[in-house]
Amino acid sequence: MSKKLVKEVKLSFRNHFKTKPVIVFSPGRINLIGEHTDYNDGFAFPAAINKGIVLAIDKSETKTSNIFALNKEEFYEFFPKKVRFLKNGGWRNYVLGVAGELKKINKEVGPFNAVFAGNIPDGAGMSSSAALENSFVFGLNELFDLGLSKTEMILVSQKAEHNFAGVQCGIMDQYASMFGIKDSALLLDCRTVESKPFQIDFAGYKLMLINTNVKHDLSQSAYNDRRAVCEKVSELLNIVALRDATESALAAIKMTISEEDYQKVLYVIHENDRVQQFSEAIRRNDLITLGRLLFESHEGLSNQYQVSCQELDFLVDLAKENPNILGARMMGGGFGGCTINLITKKAFKTFKKVVTEKYKKEFKKDCSVYSVKLSQGTRLEAKD
Ligand code: GLA
Repeated sequence: MSKKLVKEVKLSFRNHFKTKPVIVFSPGRINLIGEHTDYNDGFAFPAAINKGIVLAIDKSETKTSNIFALNKEEFYEFFPKKVRFLKNGGWRNYVLGVAGELKKINKEVGPFNAVFAGNIPDGAGMSSSAALENSFVFGLNELFDLGLSKTEMILVSQKAEHNFAGVQCGIMDQYASMFGIKDSALLLDCRTVESKPFQIDFAGYKLMLINTNVKHDLSQSAYNDRRAVCEKVSELLNIVALRDATESALAAIKMTISEEDYQKVLYVIHENDRVQQFSEAIRRNDLITLGRLLFESHEGLSNQYQVSCQELDFLVDLAKENPNILGARMMGGGFGGCTINLITKKAFKTFKKVVTEKYKKEFKKDCSVYSVKLSQGTRLEAKD
């Protein structure tokens, strides 16, 4: 995490509030494979990264809570007793959401002052919102001695996203951000909400993220629509969630659902299976299989689940043409954000140049390229 960011947040807090805050760092996440499986009680393979949110927070002596979003230079003040969703509230709704959801489980928090800033690019599909929610729930738990476990905290964050941000998300983002382990990815079972850590070392290869720098408008409604389809078909199959679906059971009801819905459910069944295959390939250090599974996952996300877009497809097609890249796919909810690529360390620089030029030529805008380190989850930085 960035020392500079911590310094800036501390300084800003001192200037605004004068007291000694608790400092929390909460990371964003990547996901190796297992997309749109989390809300189907399935499997995913996320990891926390070394980019995230730094939050400075302390109790307030006044009647109101005061929050300063340092990156945006926006201030927000609210009465802790009057927490409600704000239309077009942006980042405010994540904070209000956490406070509101804590209230619902009778964990009332008093007024607080906070300053936060982050270095996760907006809309990149690296879960800046989960990082923000987790930083607040973690900080408030610490300040007001709420006694919440990490699992309870991520459920609060997830509910904040459902009820205040309007996205019916699964648990992957909040889980990865909270429970991340340095240099590791987590094979996450979204039914039990437990994971197995896998040390990640791809030998001569590394992960490259390429941000399309687009976020198409329909992402939120399309996300909720996908979830609704999965739930509808689960009901038809008489199962709790698509995690329990089999291809043969799906074939048996094929005539009663649309071809689109059939393909979406088939994707979820296959993607869950790919996560298992991926974990086995990591154990064998079989990078070729890892790459193949990434490309297959993208095919499914693009053609069957229909959550890709032309910018993401373009980047994955470029990766396919390049022998130094074993696999690539879109990452996160879709309709923009990043692709994740498994590329030889040696080719990183050259491909970065090629992809930047070609993307610019095609879409008349820039893409951004990042490499990330896998990091520890949400944590207390220090008591300043
Ligand atoms: C978003 C959601 C997650 C997950 C992914 C897709 O990031 O917040 O819960 O569903 O999309 O895998």
